[in-house]
Amino acid sequence: MPRIPADMAKAEAFASQMINILNSGSLSTMISIGHRTGLFDALDSVGTATLEEIAKGASLNERYVKEWLGAMVSGKIIEYDPSARTYHLPSENAIFLTRRSREKNMAAIASMLPVWSRVEDRIVECFKHGGGVGYDEYGRFHEVMGEISHANVGCNLVDNILPDRPGLLDKLEKGIRVLDIGCGDGQVLLKLAERFPGSLFIGVELCEGPVSTARQQAGHQALDNVRFENADLLSYQPVDRFDLITAFDVIHDLAFPDKVLSRCHQWLKDDGEFLMMDVNASSHLENNLEHPFAPFLYTASTLHCMTVSLAQGGMGLGTVWGVEKASEMLMEAGFELSEVKTYEHDPLNNYYFCSRQE
Ligand SMILES: C[S@@+](CC[C@H](N)C(=O)[O-])C[C@H]1O[C@@H](n2cnc3c(N)ncnc32)[C@H](O)[C@@H]1O
Repeated sequence: MPRIPADMAKAEAFASQMINILNSGSLSTMISIGHRTGLFDALDSVGTATLEEIAKGASLNERYVKEWLGAMVSGKIIEYDPSARTYHLPSENAIFLTRRSREKNMAAIASMLPVWSRVEDRIVECFKHGGGVGYDEYGRFHEVMGEISHANVGCNLVDNILPDRPGLLDKLEKGIRVLDIGCGDGQVLLKLAERFPGSLFIGVELCEGPVSTARQQAGHQALDNVRFENADLLSYQPVDRFDLITAFDVIHDLAFPDKVLSRCHQWLKDDGEFLMMDVNASSHLENNLEHPFAPFLYTASTLHCMTVSLAQGGMGLGTVWGVEKASEMLMEAGFELSEVKTYEHDPLNNYYFCSRQE
């Protein structure tokens, strides 16, 4: 027998919440499609247009565009004038949906949800039998990650983040050795290599696909001060120590983050620095209840970050390992944690500035 709700008003309110969830989840996928097909950018550049003009302008099939516009208009993302049969993307919405404002573009983040959902069947199996899902099952993961990371970290590192470490920009200008661990398709490192031609940048990445993308891009930009190594951080052997090691959104994904942190500590020169960017949340669920992205983060963890670690027999720290656990592990690895900062451009992440302490 189904249990009868004790409070009917509460039950009805939850039914409304469920409707919102189903609509928002659906819109999120449609936003990803709008991003990938360039529909938001096309609409943004023309201002106001009919269905035929939008489809032609974006070189897309009109029937599909019509259905997509139906979702966008009913979802209050795009405006529709039925008398003129025209569609309009308000500038207030366009900032968060187009490539014109890359740093604020949340449509790129929406593209991660279909990437994660691709492995849903495998995750259901893991719920029953344990284990994990490996990187090779995620299709476009590194491509989507690279786009998000370029906007978030790449566009802000030199102007907003690195200046917070006294003397670091000067050292990069003069020439130092930099290692980026779990560098993905190298977007951040390529940007640094271009900006600081006197320094040497090395990126280490487990997966072959993103390494080959990164190498191609380095060749395309004719950069001779950046190298990408396809290696597991647990077996990687650098030829020399580094002045700066960076880890952007990597540590919680690793199979053995404790071992990698200790290795990073060993690989630093005595006066070297470690910069770790990782998710801004608490290690304790009860402290995350008002976190605006908490459900997104626990979902990211289940469908990607935790499971890729468990797939390698790892710790499965999870996306929401939190600032308390992160600080503890950095100190256990031997680092002195100088500062934990959150920036206005990226409230979702913390930046941990560490020095090598003996
Ligand atoms: C969330 S992604 C972040 C990528 C990149 N830092 C960025 O910001 O775009 C984590 C990366 O760590 C890499 N990775 C995971 N385990 C690794 C290991 N043991 N050795 C090297 N790279 C690893 C993954 O392949 C993935 O590219």
